[in-house]
Amino acid sequence: MIQKCKTSKEIGGMGHSIKRKEDDRFIQGKGNYVDDIKLDGMLHMDIVRSPYAYAKIKSIDASKALEIPGVVAVITGKDLEQYNLHWMPTLMSDTQMVLPTDTVMYQSQEVAAVIASDRYIARDGKEAVKVEYEPMKPLMDPHKSMDADAPVLRPDKEGKKDNHIWHWEVGDKDKTEKVFNEAEVTVEESMHIPRIHVASMETCGCVADYKKVNNFLTMYMTTQAPHAIRTVIALVAGHVGLTEEKIRVISPDIGGGFGGKVPVYPGYVIAIAVSFLTGVPIKWIEDRSENLQADSFARDYHIKAEIAATKEGKIQATRFKVLADHGYTDASANPSKFPTGMFSIGTGSYDYDTSYMEADAVYTNKPPGGVAYRCSFRVTEAVHAIETVVDSFSLKIGKDPAQLRFENFIKKDQFPWKSPTGWEYDSGDYKAGLEMAMNAIDYDGLRKEQIEKRKKGELMGIGISTFTEIVGAGPSKDFDILGIKMFDSAEIRVHPTGKAIARFGTKSQGQGHETTYAQIVAEELGIPAEHIQIEEGDTDTAPYGLGTYASRSTPTAGAAAAMAARKLRDKAKKIAAYLLEVSEDDLEWEPGKFFIKGAPEKSKTIQEIVFAAYTNHPQGMEAGFEATHYYDPPNLTFPSGAYICVVDIDPDTFEIKVRRFVAIDDCGNIINPMIVQGQVHGGLTQGIAPAMYEELLYDDDGNILNGTLMDYLVPTAVESPSWETGHTITPSPHHPIGAKGVGESPTVGAPPAIANAICDALKPYGITHLDIPITPFKIFKTLQEKGLLDTDTKI
Ligand code: CDP
Repeated sequence: MIQKCKTSKEIGGMGHSIKRKEDDRFIQGKGNYVDDIKLDGMLHMDIVRSPYAYAKIKSIDASKALEIPGVVAVITGKDLEQYNLHWMPTLMSDTQMVLPTDTVMYQSQEVAAVIASDRYIARDGKEAVKVEYEPMKPLMDPHKSMDADAPVLRPDKEGKKDNHIWHWEVGDKDKTEKVFNEAEVTVEESMHIPRIHVASMETCGCVADYKKVNNFLTMYMTTQAPHAIRTVIALVAGHVGLTEEKIRVISPDIGGGFGGKVPVYPGYVIAIAVSFLTGVPIKWIEDRSENLQADSFARDYHIKAEIAATKEGKIQATRFKVLADHGYTDASANPSKFPTGMFSIGTGSYDYDTSYMEADAVYTNKPPGGVAYRCSFRVTEAVHAIETVVDSFSLKIGKDPAQLRFENFIKKDQFPWKSPTGWEYDSGDYKAGLEMAMNAIDYDGLRKEQIEKRKKGELMGIGISTFTEIVGAGPSKDFDILGIKMFDSAEIRVHPTGKAIARFGTKSQGQGHETTYAQIVAEELGIPAEHIQIEEGDTDTAPYGLGTYASRSTPTAGAAAAMAARKLRDKAKKIAAYLLEVSEDDLEWEPGKFFIKGAPEKSKTIQEIVFAAYTNHPQGMEAGFEATHYYDPPNLTFPSGAYICVVDIDPDTFEIKVRRFVAIDDCGNIINPMIVQGQVHGGLTQGIAPAMYEELLYDDDGNILNGTLMDYLVPTAVESPSWETGHTITPSPHHPIGAKGVGESPTVGAPPAIANAICDALKPYGITHLDIPITPFKIFKTLQEKGLLDTDTKI
């Protein structure tokens, strides 16, 4: 079914979905953000930041700041050095300064922290701190990072003589080379997937509350992974007495995370250090520009993507080469074994057996990062590469891009399918998805219309993206972060009256776990969803888990919910058999009750059974009704999508209008259609963003050129078209309820569909590829450089 956006009716229950009436549980926790927290005696922190991208710090003079009434302290790297807290590990086992002791490495880097009685005084104090710098020429171009005359940016690393971080490769290099050498057709595109920013509504922040009296730290913070953060704090600060049982991380309501709230930022560590030293709660909340300029970036991959194929259009092999710009430290949040995340999914939705991919990461004088912005660790980059080069291939051999895809798709009966880079795709029906999208948008009609428009000199384009995703990190044999295996967890406790609380190791940032997890438990146990309270984000109460990012919650914690509920159902069966005085084999289950086979009137409801678990349980059985499950997925899940975009480009101004966008997603069984639709709408908007608007830009001196939201255009409803969504369903065979993740699919799949549509519109000019973001100016400039414009206007 295709659903136009801006109608909010449910689009029909599927599989395990349960219809629920709206009630106030859907907006539980309102107003409970970190910035709402006020504690007695709390002080505020602001951060002095570097105006230079690369400079020696000659001196820091805090005397004027300390004269301001209300300014309590100014903390520098030298202060932290005394406690060995001036450096911290990144999640990728690199190291990152908390505060510098001698050199700053990127513009907007933290230089000193001002502690004051309120936020405004802290800001005044920040302005009054005088820092003297000795600027150096920064290294901004990653292609020059390995030049012999490039400055070595990380001399703090013993023996480091260059700016290379790591090399990664996968696939069969020799076999791939042979196929390429012998291929009838080869195609190559070089592209840059630009550095972008995770513009969540709420910036990062924390309140660090250390109590000397019991040596206990409560850390309220905007984190997507509270348990992992607690472990990291214990690892970094254990030597000063902050061991893990003395730390409680609470992640209250979060206004969007999208991967940007996985890393540990220096601000958190400084707040902890200051609270630890003073015994006073310290609040730090970033402002919007700090968030944009200094927090972990996403993407920034330079990719060469190649296809080898027959002249009829059969793909035989792919080859990818990546240069990854990580800024001054690798602060990605990838699973340890995968420095390029899941980039190796870049072989796509196509049936061939040969591929080779390699990547090198380098340091530059840019902010650190490489976070998985609504993306399963670099899937967005991989999908963009394969989906745009497939279109270049179709252009080269003159075959319709939809037809080319149909001829190369992995077929429904080929699953589970082994990819040439080692993954086992669990299920999919790519043909059905593309057919549905084509019918919905009237692909054939559009192609006819395009022919007519081209005759009149009008620029209309149709772009396709048929992507395969990989989410649900991950099977613990391969997936860990800092050595912690990537399972996730659920704990369900049902109270005597049949009402439940369920707690999880994940942490929603607006994805609606309160609704969907309750639905899973309700479906499995027959307790109404409105009687199930869902809780996440408090390390003192929730079971250990790795958190929410990379669309892993449904594949991991969602599965854990079903498994924990099934443990309880097994127990319920035993109690029902005891109460009904029959053998367990004589019982049958229907959601909400066990009854005797053939005598449905003789039954015990789940509520009666739970009550008995506390009041009348069989002797020898453990009393109570609760279960925990740590779910270690046997495989990842492989959602997919078929997206088609139609654009019209003004031939005079090159203004681009997305006329229609149809997104058909397959995330297996859907728990809640309305939530999935909301996820897809949001994700598509975050997909149009890098395709047409967003890119962090720097000049040669390391100055950020669009460091405020006045200059960095985050699309809103104004820029977004009316999304049309629909779905196919191929359940995941290994997930307990057949679900796959969905949250990031649209962000991953949309950019190539839009870019392909724009390039298709520009086909009359012979354009095969343009780097995203594709703006009217970029089109103008490209055409002008090619001498295709009848103007010498210079912009
Ligand atoms: O990890 P994250 O919550 O960001 O991503 P997800 O697992 O893709 O789930 C996003 C939201 O969509 C959650 O509320 C899921 O439970 C819901 N969902 C669903 O209703 N059906 C699916 N098949 C997948 C996700």
